[in-house]
Amino acid sequence: MKIAIAKEVDGSEPRVAATPDTVKKFKALGIDIAIEPGAGLKSGMLDADYEAAGAVVSADAVKDADIVIKVKRPEVSEAAKYKKGALVIAIMDPYGNEAALKALADAGVSAFAMELMPRITRAQVMDVLSSQANLAGYRAVIESAEAFGRAFPMMMTAAGTVPAAKVFVMGVGVAGLQAIATARRLGAVVTATDVRPATKEQVESLGAKFLAVEDEEFKNAQTAGGYAKEMSKEYQAKQAALTAEHIKKQDIVITTALIPGRPAPKLVSADMVASMKPGSVLVDLAVERGGNVEGVKSGELVEVNGVKIVGFPNLAGKVAASASSLYARNLLSFIETLYDKAAKSLAVKWDDELVKATALTKDGAVIHPNFQPKA
Ligand code: NAI
Repeated sequence: MKIAIAKEVDGSEPRVAATPDTVKKFKALGIDIAIEPGAGLKSGMLDADYEAAGAVVSADAVKDADIVIKVKRPEVSEAAKYKKGALVIAIMDPYGNEAALKALADAGVSAFAMELMPRITRAQVMDVLSSQANLAGYRAVIESAEAFGRAFPMMMTAAGTVPAAKVFVMGVGVAGLQAIATARRLGAVVTATDVRPATKEQVESLGAKFLAVEDEEFKNAQTAGGYAKEMSKEYQAKQAALTAEHIKKQDIVITTALIPGRPAPKLVSADMVASMKPGSVLVDLAVERGGNVEGVKSGELVEVNGVKIVGFPNLAGKVAASASSLYARNLLSFIETLYDKAAKSLAVKWDDELVKATALTKDGAVIHPNFQPKA
């Protein structure tokens, strides 16, 4: 069996799907590894490091590979180079991209979306949403600190006292929890909000204060899968009234609120932004799904009356070496379930729940029920 590590064609994507460490582990399983030249460079991993780990560096790496691993969904021009029937495993961004999935089906590859991995105990080590969101949450705080003209911790000096920064985190999933922890480590006074009741205790356990409209709807806002539901217009209005008062007094607002398969909920209006003091900073981690903050622009730092709105996509990519090493481990663990160690061959169990949840295309068709092409 042969796995190819493809170089990302999107120049803004610095991550890579394997590290010399995971290459060694694949080799120990009896799997051949080929890698496209320079694939790991932006994550600080050199061709020579992969070679030393046992990989073959080749521009033709993907040509006869049984599995191609990538960070982002391959373009049609990339998939055209893969062997028919090859598995392609990546972060596929499938929602709203049905046409691109159809193109992968037409190219004859079996595409798997790592972000659809079910959140069950067995698959925790393959949970790419968690591994990447954790780093993005950390990086969001670092971005906010860079854009903020003041210090985070309280400093009592002979020349006077610098007050602690006030940080408000909206959306307390994996990214939000790490943002809270990072802001606390930097010495900020942190508050946070979410629509899922389970988050209240998590926020408090990190030493932050919880703020939310805790009505009947809030008590039922968590799906069986642990995700947020889209809230009613009435709830959103109550939530906006509560947070509007709070946001006025904050130095930093970090938003991470997402609902799977839906556009990001709008949580911070232009009026709320206008109510903040000049020098305040908002970092919108939901920018890739439309953003939580009105006026955010993907890839830009927008300034409105002295308030900065940071809308950088792919914040995990800004800690590329860490993000790549965790993503590579997620992939290694998943691929181990697709491989027969004794026979040293590919052995996909198409009825396994991990495969059923993540497989998008097979034998020329889109097979995932959630992404059937529109008639
Ligand atoms: P996410 O990235 O889908 O959403 C981020 C946060 O935004 C969520 O906490 C969500 O409740 C919140 N949100 C949505 N609408 C909102 C609104 N209107 N106002 C405020 N907040 C809003 O979430 P993520 O990080 O993927 O986590 C989702 C759940 O999955 C969590 O319960 C997490 O603990 C759980 N999880 C379970 C794992 C496992 O069992 N293996 C692994 C990782 C996470």
